Amino acid sequence: MAAKLVVAGNWKMNMTASEGKALVDALKPLVADVCPCACTVIVCPPFTTLATVIEAAKGSNIHVGAQNVHWAANGAFTGEISAAMLKEAGVEYVIIGHSERRQYFGETDATVNARIKAALEAGLKPIVCIGETLEEREGGKTEAVLERQINEGLAGLEAASLADLILAYEPVWAIGTGRTATPEMAEDTQKAIRGFVAAQFGDAAAEAMTIQYGGSMKPENAAALCAQADINGGLIGGAALKAASFADLVKNAVAGNSEK
Ligand code: 13P
Repeated sequence: MAAKLVVAGNWKMNMTASEGKALVDALKPLVADVCPCACTVIVCPPFTTLATVIEAAKGSNIHVGAQNVHWAANGAFTGEISAAMLKEAGVEYVIIGHSERRQYFGETDATVNARIKAALEAGLKPIVCIGETLEEREGGKTEAVLERQINEGLAGLEAASLADLILAYEPVWAIGTGRTATPEMAEDTQKAIRGFVAAQFGDAAAEAMTIQYGGSMKPENAAALCAQADINGGLIGGAALKAASFADLVKNAVAGNSEK
């Protein structure tokens, strides 16, 4: 039987608190019939929108994640947010190492690793983003880049803690460009990613791991992507900003996954 999917909307720097509430209020009835046994539905608003969205999502099957977390427990880190702050606010998931943070904010595999450890320690479930740039893909470096991001990003973790960790493969060239990896291309890479996880943590942990695809996933291509053996859901940008398109995407992803 196909493993359960995890589909998360990364709202990026969009949605004030009132806009976020309106989106979740509209989304709730649209995904109410999506069985949690088939798909975990997550929305990841900006920090200032989290509390309102957590309140709005109460009692529904919508889970809430943040988009970043600092690695220190507390202290003189102006502008940063700790794992304990997120946990106490009612956050369950946290995106770590998104390519936009790697590109614009100096995120490295070492800081990704530190953030993952802090998140797990606090009981948050990290959604760890990896992916190659266009230049890296065209230079034949895709697998080497992903292997390095996995080995260094997940260094020092126990295999058991991978059960609480999701990997999101997001080819940087497919993010916000409308240029999706074909299902076959994504599957080839996702299978390689599972292999890198197996080499570091063993086959059982790798088999059980949720590996999402992200990058121009839409209602129209979600079924074909999620029908691939090693694609266990999606991390969605643009298509997560409208309730109807996100709900359609979730349902199509579930339908695709059930073909496995
Ligand atoms: P798009 O779905 O807009 O391409 O964004 C993907 C992404 O970066 C999700 O984290």
